[in-house]
Amino acid sequence: MHADVALRTESLCLWYGARQVLHEISLSIPALRITALVGPSGCGKSSLLRCLNRLNDEIADSRTTGRIRIGEIDAHAKDTLVHDLRRRVGIVFQRPNPFPLSIHDNVAYGLRLLGIRRRSELDDRVEAALKAVALWNEVVSRLDESALDLSIGQQQRLVVARAIAVEPDILMLDEPGSALDPVSTLRFEELLHELARRHTIVLVTHNMQQAARVSDFTAFLHQGRLVEFGATDALFTNPRERQTEDFITGRYG
Ligand SMILES: Nc1ncnc2c1ncn2[C@@H]1O[C@H](COP(=O)(O)OP(=O)(O)O)[C@@H](O)[C@H]1O
Ligand SMILES: [Mg+2]
Repeated sequence: MHADVALRTESLCLWYGARQVLHEISLSIPALRITALVGPSGCGKSSLLRCLNRLNDEIADSRTTGRIRIGEIDAHAKDTLVHDLRRRVGIVFQRPNPFPLSIHDNVAYGLRLLGIRRRSELDDRVEAALKAVALWNEVVSRLDESALDLSIGQQQRLVVARAIAVEPDILMLDEPGSALDPVSTLRFEELLHELARRHTIVLVTHNMQQAARVSDFTAFLHQGRLVEFGATDALFTNPRERQTEDFITGRYG
């Protein structure tokens, strides 16, 4: 594996109360590639993503050990600013969650938080983000209308535009396709390839065909443990572990 590493976890463990849900996860995510995170429901995929940008901080009773390095930053160090970390590591959830604001203001939201006030700069960056997700042509005439009136497929692209507007190094997507119809899903997968030119992508998906189609690398998680990680082609055609083989051939999950 010759790609640079964008994010590295070392022996990452997570507990909710007394219950341990992640066990000694050591994983290196290659930069500017698409890494799929797969595994049965409840194996800890969303929890792992939430550790990476410290959304777990908001969950009372959660506790982590181990290390997470994002570039030169230690994500869990006391002096790491959470808002800076979240600017570098964006997340998009399963259900598109536009804010009850205009299309423009949704995408401008994070930019305003960064202190960008000049209207021309905001407009330029909103346009660039909407173009990057192939939504610009559909919404250019109604940027001031509510984002809630968009279709689900458009909303999903909008929340990706909102996430990338602040130019994160890493974009994490947690089962982003599950609310989409098949045509929107294929469009969305094409979009991921475009986005991977500028952002490291971590894609949680329960859809093995999707993982095989779009990702360069795949990590298989089972019961909070990283069972196998490798190039997607190799993992799907010639898995090293029996558990991986059982999962990708649909024997459980
Ligand atoms: N906020 C929470 N508090 C307590 N337990 C949780 C919380 N979120 C998830 N869990 C538990 O942690 C385990 C992993 O969940 P999750 O990360 O959502 O898995 P996945 O995304 O792979 O389906 C599950 O057993 C789930 O019930
Ligand atoms: Mg999940």
